[in-house]
Amino acid sequence: MISVISHSPEETWELASKLAPILSKGDLINLSGDLGAGKTVFTKGLAAGLGIVEPVTSPTFTIIKEYEEGRLPLYHFDVYRLFSPDELEELGFDEYFYGEGITVIEWGDRVEELLPDIRLDVKILRLVDETFRRIEISPYGDIWQEKVKEWQPGD
Ligand SMILES: Nc1ncnc2c1ncn2[C@@H]1O[C@H](COP(=O)(O)OP(=O)(O)OP(=O)(O)O)[C@@H](O)[C@H]1O
Ligand SMILES: [Mg+2]
Repeated sequence: MISVISHSPEETWELASKLAPILSKGDLINLSGDLGAGKTVFTKGLAAGLGIVEPVTSPTFTIIKEYEEGRLPLYHFDVYRLFSPDELEELGFDEYFYGEGITVIEWGDRVEELLPDIRLDVKILRLVDETFRRIEISPYGDIWQEKVKEWQPGD
């Protein structure tokens, strides 16, 4: 696990935007951590890094939003309001998780049994200072171990 401190929303955004160049089709990023910690901010940065200019907003009520204009399609899930993982099955989640684009899933821990074993977990935790966050990055699978080396989050 790699732990990075973010001091501002801009830093979180920037960190995520730098992840975009090393992503490839079928990659899944599981975002978890505190309520209002910055999962959507992270997703916005990642989207910008992929070349998406359309505003990215939280898909809290729709569960999923798709953005097709970037280097790769982005599938942005927020499963906070799901009642059960069955609902995700009804949405045909595997067409996204194992599809042509990148999946980012806020509160993915809530449907952990449906997530692929090979994935990047990013946990964002609030610290005492209002704008400080600890971002814990856990790569699962050889592919992610390698990608994370190229990411150099501290830069
Ligand atoms: N270091 C930081 N990184 C990210 N966001 C920060 C930071 N410091 C302050 N913020 C603020 O915290 C808020 C994070 O909101 P955001 O919607 O991204 O959280 P979230 O984790 O997606 O929330 P939810 O749990 O409702 O999905 C924003 O208002 C942002 O400006
Ligand atoms: Mg959010």
